[in-house]
Amino acid sequence: MSEIKTLIKFDNLPIANNLSEDMNIKNPEFDLHIVFDEETKLVQLHNNVKPEFLFNDTYVYDSSQSKTMVNHFKEAAINLYDRFKPNKVLEIGSNSGIFVNNFIDLTDVIAVEPCGNFADLTNNMNIKTYPKYWNKDVVETILKEDGKQDLIFSANTISHVQNLEECLELISKCLTKKGVFVIEAPSFLEVLKNNTFDQFYHEHQSYFSYISLSNVLSKAGLEIFDVEFYPVHGGSYRYYIGKNKEYNKVSINCEKVLKSELSYGVDSYEKVKDRMDIMKRNMIEIKNKLENLTSEGNIVIGYGATAKLIQVVHMCGLNENLIKYVVDTTLDKQGRYIPNTNIQIRKYDNNCLNGVDYCFLGAWNYKDEILKKEKQFTKDGGKFMTHVPEVSII
Ligand code: TMP
Repeated sequence: MSEIKTLIKFDNLPIANNLSEDMNIKNPEFDLHIVFDEETKLVQLHNNVKPEFLFNDTYVYDSSQSKTMVNHFKEAAINLYDRFKPNKVLEIGSNSGIFVNNFIDLTDVIAVEPCGNFADLTNNMNIKTYPKYWNKDVVETILKEDGKQDLIFSANTISHVQNLEECLELISKCLTKKGVFVIEAPSFLEVLKNNTFDQFYHEHQSYFSYISLSNVLSKAGLEIFDVEFYPVHGGSYRYYIGKNKEYNKVSINCEKVLKSELSYGVDSYEKVKDRMDIMKRNMIEIKNKLENLTSEGNIVIGYGATAKLIQVVHMCGLNENLIKYVVDTTLDKQGRYIPNTNIQIRKYDNNCLNGVDYCFLGAWNYKDEILKKEKQFTKDGGKFMTHVPEVSII
């Protein structure tokens, strides 16, 4: 039995993407307990809430809302097609089709997506989409109807899975002998380096490092043979995984990433725990800074109603006096409230920053895209505040 150690624990947090329709309705709250497994070095949530609470037919996160992500997945699809020439492609967690839609004219492509609203969307694009969780039943149907797959892709989804061991075994079962499984996931090393405690939320079950992912994959007979860094979602890795190194020469990138993680101490409970203490201080500093700004009479709003911003609000104990409201481009989020607060999400339009002094950057992962878009706001004296990698005014 491996030893599980607590890293940090938050009591009673609402589910981040479960935005309230009405500020008088209180959403259920659950603990967020982050633990370190001494055997695999994997950082995970302990006793997480049931997946049905997290991913359902009213799921609001739509990756196609960002140009950065649209371009990122287009490039990913082209690169993967050129490199592996797959005849059959499967995506697990296809969201609004941002990745799979690039394969329509290239090769056979299917998808699995538990949020019915999104599965309908890609089915309507003529991409066969199973509106299901990735489980034994769906894999049996895929094997019968579609056969084994040459390329299985999954971005920011495997880190959401609660039964990781079974999930990886099923992927291995669905993959051809020489098939390639590609995962994208935020790097836990970057979470630590950038103090992005707001990446801890109920949807994120696992916080992978190269080291921990290698350990859990090996249990399913899978191995990483290449890895690439991408700046999306605060710094992510794209891992290339196969059944046998014989078919895929291990790249020098693997050694480099392993070295960087070992030298930082991602595999050491004590080192990781030290960073958690820095994050706790960071949370206090955010609140202090916002209190100072608002007490000086500044109007401060949030920019981007990300799940991350919702975590910042709750973890730092913020309210509508410190963040007046939040602007966001996602239609489904507009008019709703940050769960269990009076902070409303309002429509983003050309005039929505008029009279605003500071924008707290909720969508810090799109910092460059947003700063470019908001040149006029900053030219007119408006400022952005961020907490990544430290609390500062940009
Ligand atoms: P994400 O960090 O989970 O991808 O969510 C990004 C959120 O930020 C999404 O709700 C859309 C919003 N957003 C804006 O409102 N304006 C922008 O310019 C960008 C890039 C994102």
